[in-house]
Amino acid sequence: MRTTGVRTPFALQTKQYVSMESVRLRGLIESDLDVLTANETPGSDPWNYFEIGASNRFHRRFADNGGITEDTGVLAVETSEGVLVGSVSWFTVQHGPSAACRAINIGISLFVEHRGQGYGSVAQRQLCDYLFSTRLVERVEAATDVENIAERRALETASFSQEGLLRHAQYRAGEWHDIMLYSRLRGD
Ligand SMILES: CC(C)(COP(=O)(O)OP(=O)(O)OC[C@H]1O[C@@H](n2cnc3c(N)ncnc32)[C@H](O)[C@@H]1OP(=O)(O)O)[C@@H](O)C(=O)NCCC(=O)NCCS
Repeated sequence: MRTTGVRTPFALQTKQYVSMESVRLRGLIESDLDVLTANETPGSDPWNYFEIGASNRFHRRFADNGGITEDTGVLAVETSEGVLVGSVSWFTVQHGPSAACRAINIGISLFVEHRGQGYGSVAQRQLCDYLFSTRLVERVEAATDVENIAERRALETASFSQEGLLRHAQYRAGEWHDIMLYSRLRGD
């Protein structure tokens, strides 16, 4: 939770600080699944909406392996009071043929009513810590639409470094979108 001030329009907002304990990550539980599924619409999260897919994606992943495999995963984000506010996820990307060339790409989706309170950067920082402590990788990546200012700021606050623009890397909502690539290394 932010410790100072009332939230004002973004351009006017002064720097505020959010405790690392404001939110935490945990494994999925069955009661999360319908709520997370309901958030997957173009209205509630256009940045993560790519197509009409199976509506039981979370249910299937949960039934298969609790949401976590060797190469992919999804965790719930909840407040310190236990209120579900969204999810984080990851998948593996290869930058060369060997296991040593493996990186992890992360994503996040918070529910509309829980955005703008600083949870995004804390959750992504925690996800990095979790992945570096459980996976043998050197590099965690995140990519977001160049126009997604909130995610770009949240990644910078979570100690990610901007690396470069990937032109027309995503096709979404009938158009090609440029995305910005960020990374955090184990030693950062
Ligand atoms: C992107 C997201 C994770 C950010 O988390 P958040 O908790 O809402 O963001 P924060 O409150 O930490 O805000 C991050 C920064 O962006 C700024 N910001 C937030 N929304 C903004 C907006 N619409 N326009 C401009 N700046 C914005 C904040 O002022 C803050 O800046 P600061 O670090 O200088 O204080 C969250 O909004 C979300 O889930 N959005 C929908 C899904 C999404 O976009 N996921 C990423 C797709 S790749």
